[in-house]
Amino acid sequence: MTVSSINSHDKERPILVTGGAGFIGTNFILDWLKTEKAPIINLDKLTYAGNLDNFSAISPDSMIEFIHGDIGDTELVRALLERARPQAILNFAAESHVDRSIRDPAEFIDTNIVGTFKLLECARDHWERLRGEEGRAFRFLQVSTDEVYGSLQPSQDPFREENAFVPSSPYAASKAAADHLVRAWHKTYGLPVLTTNCSNNYGPYQFPEKLIPLMIIQALSGKQLPIYGDGMHSRDWLYVADHCSAVRTVLQAGRMGEVYNVGGRNEKTNRDIVLAICAVLDAEVPRVDGESYCEQIGSVQDRPGHDRRYAIDSSKIESELGWSPQETFESGLRKTVRWYLSNRDWLAGSRQAPTGTEVNFNGLQI
Ligand code: NAD
Ligand code: TYD
Repeated sequence: MTVSSINSHDKERPILVTGGAGFIGTNFILDWLKTEKAPIINLDKLTYAGNLDNFSAISPDSMIEFIHGDIGDTELVRALLERARPQAILNFAAESHVDRSIRDPAEFIDTNIVGTFKLLECARDHWERLRGEEGRAFRFLQVSTDEVYGSLQPSQDPFREENAFVPSSPYAASKAAADHLVRAWHKTYGLPVLTTNCSNNYGPYQFPEKLIPLMIIQALSGKQLPIYGDGMHSRDWLYVADHCSAVRTVLQAGRMGEVYNVGGRNEKTNRDIVLAICAVLDAEVPRVDGESYCEQIGSVQDRPGHDRRYAIDSSKIESELGWSPQETFESGLRKTVRWYLSNRDWLAGSRQAPTGTEVNFNGLQI
């Protein structure tokens, strides 16, 4: 990774990615560097979820600059925008795990709401000084979640962009608040914003506190696969590279001020997800006793306020912008499991909190 600063006089103006050392931000940056010319500035606070080792394999002359900092640090962000004059800000930075938000919501309010507010103010100040084409081309893209729409009944249609926000968890409520701010900054100040609301992602580099990587690490460690409640809660799963291509598509062609729902039309119950992971592991790394990893499945206490069902109607981004997911759930899950199997060092490293203490995942010491 280059440590030289990307400046406003560089040929193609950079994009500023916040939270780029996390799961989706990392995948976004690695994909972007393969296909796009604009340099990237990655502003990340490096919480437990951020990992700069994710970029250790990229070529040393890649046009990427890392800034260690908080989206809520107005002085830092203002100076950065003035120096680098990015053509866009993509806000991936967030506290992102529902269970953590239930245990300790304060950071979710600070980063997801106050941090986004401060970033929006810096973006507005910057954009209002831009002239001509530079101002017209500028975009602020908010990366958000389907969880803002709350929980669906079995008979209800998948979420559309017009659905009301009925968030259930502190995480979802903080993301909903941020989405409202983004919309208001467009309506009130004219800031050129775009918002994506995406369903559950899975793929490489996901921190093993979320369902799919947690189940993989638990299975390989011979431990219980803890399904919350009856395991019949369902989510609409999307391979992370497909989310990244959706964000790129919206950035390049989305209509200003619009919201785009992104999903994989892959509604599955948690139990089915865990069974599918076990089937891939049984084929790839059979247990020495010849039993299936399914033997390790167990039911644990349900999450408070646990949303029963999420499903996304992504027809707007498909018909307006021509985006569609490329990965099937089966192929995406196989790739994901294989990635974790070949990157056990990464998995082991992510078990260490920055302080060196072992991370406790949802009450499980793994
Ligand atoms: P993640 O938790 O893996 O990564 C978040 C990143 O943000 C980390 O690198 C962290 O260090 C950084 N960060 C946290 N607070 C910060 C701050 N104050 N300033 C700067 N950086 C900060 O999250 P993710 O799964 O990659 O999610 C990225 C975005 O996508 C989030 O906004 C999330 O709400 C959204 N999203 C996630 C999913 C999913 O399934 N993971 C689905 C839809 C939308
Ligand atoms: P998660 O990956 O935390 O994503 P989200 O809560 O944002 O949807 O969880 C996905 C689903 O899996 C959710 O319904 C909760 C469930 N779950 C379990 O059953 N066991 C677990 O250990 C975890 C982490 C999640």
